[in-house]
Parts: sequence; structure tokens; C-alpha cells
Amino acid sequence: MGSSDPLQPVVSFNGVSKFFGDIVAAKDLNLEVQSGEFLSFLGPSGCGKTTMLRMIAGFEQPTEGDVYLQGNRVNGVPAYKRPVNMVFQHYALFPHLDIERNVAYGLKQASPRLSQTLIKERVDDALNLVQLDGYHRRRIWELSGGQQQRVALARALVNKPQVLLLDEPLAALDRKLRREMQIELQNLQRNVGITFVLVTHDQEEALSMSDRVCIMREGEIVQVGSPRELYDKPLNRYVADFVGKSNFFDGIVESSGDGRQAVKLDNGHSLDVDVHANGKLMASSQRITLSIRPEQIVLARDAARLPEDAAIVIEAEVRNRIFLGEHTEYLLHEGAFGEFLALAPRQVEANESPFEVNEKIYVCWSRAAALLLDNRM
Ligand SMILES: Nc1ncnc2c1ncn2[C@@H]1O[C@H](COP(=O)(O)OP(=O)(O)O)[C@@H](O)[C@H]1O
Ligand SMILES: [Mg+2]
Repeated sequence: MGSSDPLQPVVSFNGVSKFFGDIVAAKDLNLEVQSGEFLSFLGPSGCGKTTMLRMIAGFEQPTEGDVYLQGNRVNGVPAYKRPVNMVFQHYALFPHLDIERNVAYGLKQASPRLSQTLIKERVDDALNLVQLDGYHRRRIWELSGGQQQRVALARALVNKPQVLLLDEPLAALDRKLRREMQIELQNLQRNVGITFVLVTHDQEEALSMSDRVCIMREGEIVQVGSPRELYDKPLNRYVADFVGKSNFFDGIVESSGDGRQAVKLDNGHSLDVDVHANGKLMASSQRITLSIRPEQIVLARDAARLPEDAAIVIEAEVRNRIFLGEHTEYLLHEGAFGEFLALAPRQVEANESPFEVNEKIYVCWSRAAALLLDNRM
């Protein structure tokens, strides 16, 4: 591994844009990835995630702006001269070579040449890291999907890159295996201390593994933050929608003051919403989207059980109920609000039996529970 200065960002993008003809794959991107960090790019298909990784790897060059690795500008530097390795979505393993030769492939191309002993040592280490000790002679087609994924990882790790780039690395695995590999990848990253930059369109994957997540939309970075920051303080509806589940109701700010904003929803209801610490104060008559997370909604059969600080109380009908172990998810319906989701913890059900489909219940939330999002962004 090359020398790495922990204070220097490992990767930085400075006003980076990438055009393919008329297509804007990346637009004025500014981002710093810190040494040892696990950062994910999250966004729908076609939003420019792979293009970003490929610009770090050197498979693409920016049309505008600069890419730095360890403080060195690398525009124009080809992939094989960069201290990074990429694991591709389709592992791109060599089917005619055994595992050892697949993993050793990059090392054998190195110049100056590495000794056989050193190559053997590095391959053994890499296979050990991905828990494939003793699989040297196996053929690719003799391995399961998860094992093939591990070979692809070993092949990248064997080069001891400063940054490991992973493009939807778990997309080909079934759900259960994907969960296991997510945990393994996270452990692996902690063990080797290499910076990981991962691309995914799966929010659960991004949130469960990463130190920070970079949310992308149409070639642009919308918000970068820890999973918790993105969940608690989404910048706009796009982020709130992508990170976790939420109910959204459009409306307008009527007045603000005293740490509160009075909101009139388009569905006719009025309510107050707290201005959160370092939250943005919206101007009067500004259009907003009120976001309320399902777990922030309080349900009760009996009005006397409702909390006293409710910002709004409505009577809704239970349309559907899904038992989720710890929680029960209710799909509710009310004439003006339409359908929305609420997540009731088990404790509630200990006091009151679960609500039945078609039952009418009380629904409320507190002033502090809702978030106002600027829906111009
Ligand atoms: N080599 C290319 N030539 C033309 N268009 C491309 C090329 N690579 C990517 N694109 C386009 O750039 C946009 C972003 O693509 P990509 O980075 O692959 O998105 P993602 O990985 O988020 O799905 C898409 O519209 C895609 O079609
Ligand atoms: Mg992609």
C-alpha cells in the first residue's frame, strides 16, 4: 500500500462534470472521501453512480473539474497507475483459471516483477481475508454466487489498494446471502482499514454498511451525511423518501415564530410544527411538504389515551395490518389525508389489542414529530 496521510482526503472531486454527448452523467460534483471511510453512493439506476466510480478508478476522465487521489490531481492518469481497485457488478472472473490464478492475475502483471514467494503470500492473505482458505485449486464454476463474490473481492484486495471501489457488488446475490455479505464486507473493511467506496441502489444496503451515504439524483449530489443525519434531517423530499419510509402531505406555511410554524395542508387541515434545532425556518406562504415517519404516528382506540401534546388528531380507518415482529405496520385511511402508514410498537399492543382491519381509530402526532421540507429542492 502506498503511503497514506490520514489528514488528506483519499479522494476528492472538485467541480467534476461528465458529459456523454447530450447526457449529463455527473454535474458539478464536490466531495471528499476520508481515509478509512466506508462511503456509499445511493440513487436510482442511471443517476451517475457508476460514472463517479469509474472517474475515481480512471476508466473515465472528467469533462470538467478535477479528481484528486491523496492530494494528487489524477486527471488523465490511466487506471493501472492509480492506487485503487474496482470490484465490478458482474464479477468478471476468468472462468478458465482456478481461484489462485484469478486472484494472482493482477500481481503477475506487476512491473517490476514480484517474486513467486511474495505472490503466493499475498494470494494466501487475500483468500484468508475473504474466508476462502484452501480454495486455491477450485474452478470458478464450482463456486456459489457468494463465493464468487469473495473471489472478486480477494482479487481486488490482493493489490493492497488505498481505495476499494465496489459497484453494486451484492446485486447478483439472493436476499439472505446479501445480508450476510453486507456484514462480511463491513467487517472486512474494518479489518483491512482500506477506504471503501460502494455504489448501490438499495437503501438498506447503503444505510446498514456505510459511515456516510451520498444521495444522488440525475448526476447531482443531493445530500451527504451519516445514515442517521439523512434519516433525521433530510434536506428534501427526495432524501426523506429514499432513506426510510415516510408519509408526505403538501401544504403552505401560514406563519412562523416562537420556534413553531403554522402550516395549512392542501387537504384543508391546519397544524403546528416545531422548528428543529438547526432546522430551516421557512418563510410565510412558502410551499412545503410535511413529512411524518410512520413510527412517529401515535395510534389509540380510546381518545383518552392520546398524548396531550398532539399537533393534530384525526380519525382514520384501518385498511391493512402487517405484523413485523417488533412492530405492526398499519395502512390507514382518512378522507382528507388519503392513505398513510403508521408503525405501532409492541408495547402499545400490550395495553390494547391490535387494531382490526376496518376499525376506526384515533391517529395523532406531536409538533416535534413532523418535519417541514422545502419542496422547491
Ligand atoms: N459510456 C457511456 N456512453 C454514453 N452514456 C453513458 C455512458 N456511461 C453512462 N452513460 C449514461 O450516463 C448516465 C449515468 O449512468 P451510470 O453512471 O451508469 O448510472 P448508474 O450507475 O447510477 O446507474 C446514464 O444516463 C447512462 O446512460
Ligand atoms: Mg451503475
